Amino acid sequence: MRVGVVGCGYWGSKHVRVLSSLPAVSAVVIIDDRADARASVGADFPEALQRRSLTEALDDVDAVVVATPPDSHFELAAEAITAGKHALVEKPMATTTPDAKRLVGLAEEAGVVLAAGHTFVYNPAVWKLAELVASDALGSLHYLHADRLNLGLYRPDVNVLWDLAAHDISITTVVLGAVPDTVAAWGARNTTGFAEDVANLRMTFTSLSIESTVRASWLDPVKVRRTTIVGSDAMALYDDVDVDARIKVFDRGRRLDVPTAADPAGQISYNEGGLSVPRIQFREPLLLQATDFLRCCRTGAKPMADGNAGLAVVAVLDASDTSLRENGLPIPVDLPNLLLEPSLVIV
Ligand SMILES: NC(=O)c1ccc[n+]([C@@H]2O[C@H](COP(=O)([O-])OP(=O)(O)OC[C@H]3O[C@@H](n4cnc5c(N)ncnc54)[C@H](O)[C@@H]3O)[C@@H](O)[C@H]2O)c1
Repeated sequence: MRVGVVGCGYWGSKHVRVLSSLPAVSAVVIIDDRADARASVGADFPEALQRRSLTEALDDVDAVVVATPPDSHFELAAEAITAGKHALVEKPMATTTPDAKRLVGLAEEAGVVLAAGHTFVYNPAVWKLAELVASDALGSLHYLHADRLNLGLYRPDVNVLWDLAAHDISITTVVLGAVPDTVAAWGARNTTGFAEDVANLRMTFTSLSIESTVRASWLDPVKVRRTTIVGSDAMALYDDVDVDARIKVFDRGRRLDVPTAADPAGQISYNEGGLSVPRIQFREPLLLQATDFLRCCRTGAKPMADGNAGLAVVAVLDASDTSLRENGLPIPVDLPNLLLEPSLVIV
């Protein structure tokens, strides 16, 4: 399989490294309109072909990874798919719901694989979270909350939710096995010339009677990547920065004792139980993602994060834009008849 990476900046260069390490890849093509980006990545991978544009590279590739800034994803992915190439498109897959839907439709028509670059869906720690929820190890769920904070990197074409919360939306969708039906978002623009750099998102999953919140910021002193899930029996913390203990399960909670005549309000009692750190066999998510994508290109199977998963994240973000403009008004997510089949398969 010959794979082109369109956009070889910070993230695309990692795709080039991972693809170059896989035996299933016979050739990697570095595609970037900046000569310095091509030269810098090409220095580490001298055997890779170099092209200035996707159009120039189409004859040299069977599949592409689109790792350019978000506002160019739709156009580039549509060009690749229309030319019969499989496409893995970085998050967010597009910047509007209609464009994301069009990509899904184009891929179906062309009979090619469309995958979304939802890296965390390929993170074994996220699989462990999903397993804890699916096995009822936490009891019935009360809420999920995610924090994704750090200082920078400001992006000129999208706000902080499209950049950072895209990850938390994909994680939540996979862990709960559902897409939110309503979202509310509020935030602040603290930096002239940029969209919201600090924002909050609330996702409502009516069918599960649960809400999930995200706080995303480019303007925070400390790098935080955490998801907390609170259940009736236990609580789980996923901290992607804590590489020795990404998942912790706390046997902690509270119980409201049955009210009695002597104590009509009832009593809260607390369980301050222990802490366990499940073993996770960690492998690089980008490598697992590339392996899954290539397997699907070969077999026609659906990737773990397929085009519909990409569409779901875009639709949530699109609704969050409307809510931001309306000061946090809850907005329905435009996803009629979306078929989401989240299948967590270790590849
Ligand atoms: N999945 C993840 O964890 C993750 C992490 C970081 C970034 N990303 C995503 O990766 C994408 C790229 O982010 P980045 O930080 O690498 O950006 P970047 O600015 O560092 O790199 C983008 C590159 O694309 C090139 N480019 C732009 N338009 C092009 C075009 N039409 N044809 C060819 N080359 C073009 C630019 O010259 C640049 O070298 C974004 O969509 C971002 O959201 C994903």
